[in-house]
Amino acid sequence: MVERELIEVVEGKARILVPNPKLYSRPDGVYEPSWAPVFYNPKMMFNRDFSIVFLNTLKRLGASLELVVDPLAGSGVRGIRYLLEVEDIGKAIINDIDPEAYSIIEKNVKLNNLNSRVETYCLDANLLLNMLPQVGLRGDFIDVDPFGSPIPFIDSALWATKNYGYLAATATDTAALVGTHERACIRRYHAKPLRCGCEKEIGLRILISSIILRAASKDIAAIPIIAYFADYYYRVFFKIIRGARRASKLLENLGYIVYDREKGDYWFVHGYPIPTSIVKDHRVVIGGPLWTSILVDIDVLKKILEEASRNKYEYLDTIDRIRILLKQLECETPIIKPYYRLDKICSMIHKSMPKTSSVIECLKAKGYRACRSHFDYRGIRTNAPLNELVDCISSLSTSS
Ligand SMILES: C[S@@+](CC[C@H](N)C(=O)[O-])C[C@H]1O[C@@H](n2cnc3c(N)ncnc32)[C@H](O)[C@@H]1O
Repeated sequence: MVERELIEVVEGKARILVPNPKLYSRPDGVYEPSWAPVFYNPKMMFNRDFSIVFLNTLKRLGASLELVVDPLAGSGVRGIRYLLEVEDIGKAIINDIDPEAYSIIEKNVKLNNLNSRVETYCLDANLLLNMLPQVGLRGDFIDVDPFGSPIPFIDSALWATKNYGYLAATATDTAALVGTHERACIRRYHAKPLRCGCEKEIGLRILISSIILRAASKDIAAIPIIAYFADYYYRVFFKIIRGARRASKLLENLGYIVYDREKGDYWFVHGYPIPTSIVKDHRVVIGGPLWTSILVDIDVLKKILEEASRNKYEYLDTIDRIRILLKQLECETPIIKPYYRLDKICSMIHKSMPKTSSVIECLKAKGYRACRSHFDYRGIRTNAPLNELVDCISSLSTSS
């Protein structure tokens, strides 16, 4: 790529050369990152900002971050920002298979005066990640941020993560995980998606269990610490602990989702492999395997909330959004039931849709926990049974 096709942007504390978005925009002027010769998506700034707050929280909790690895780096913005914005990171390995991306990464490392703290490579990510342990290196934090599914890179990333280190994965292939492309989900994640109303949550839980199972096959426990959905992608941070017993124990948190189409209700069934009782029940449809436990480690979440409230993050463009998401996760996490979609239930019972806040108040007045779900603006997460939710909706709305 010639220099004049690049522009400099500032993201967080980094200055980054990226392809000029004007050259890769649709006729309506909207920038299409996938058209550019080197990938840089400003919409993923939230994902990167969140990771910075998360990593700083880990540091405060005493984690060592001597080596971070950004194996699918695009412009290098992620790894560069980690070095500039996370306290006391030693070194980063920043890699991309594409020679044009590699050349921009080198420029960006230099532009941010980070040459002494970065090793750059132009290799296949799996090759690099499999090679690292061979030369005595493992990452304290490895960030798998590919196009689409992270699964093709997970095995090697697991090998390359230190014991008690952390592994993050982004999945943008939500169409597969939510079941729009069911066969792609089965192929990639070895799980059956289910479109019953809370498919966005099912997708995230399938992603988690799929990574846990891959880790378990190597006697590694990949413990999900924080997982969320944003915009059009999933993001999960795992703590990696080696040991067959830990890996087996973690499998106790896998299970299935069962959907009773007639009643419009669904629930998790714990147990992996599939419990025979649900196989025999022909009235229900089954999805999974999937992660059936909490999506967020509450203790870590409290620390991230504390961290995110610090003034030092006011420079982050998305800090307000990060704080809102963390608050939502704090409210949702203790309720380990899939969320309900208000519009779906209203259409099932032929009622107009009341205000979400009123339904939440009604459920709380009945003594249940209830809050909005971060997965869907029409979603309510509650520990109330469906009939209580239906009662609240009926009392608040008119027939449609
Ligand atoms: C989604 S982009 C990365 C975005 C980047 N992580 C960020 O935060 O801006 C995925 C990148 O992976 C690179 N890539 C695709 N297949 C790869 C492979 N097998 N090994 C290494 N890099 C690969 C692509 O060239 C692309 O730059």
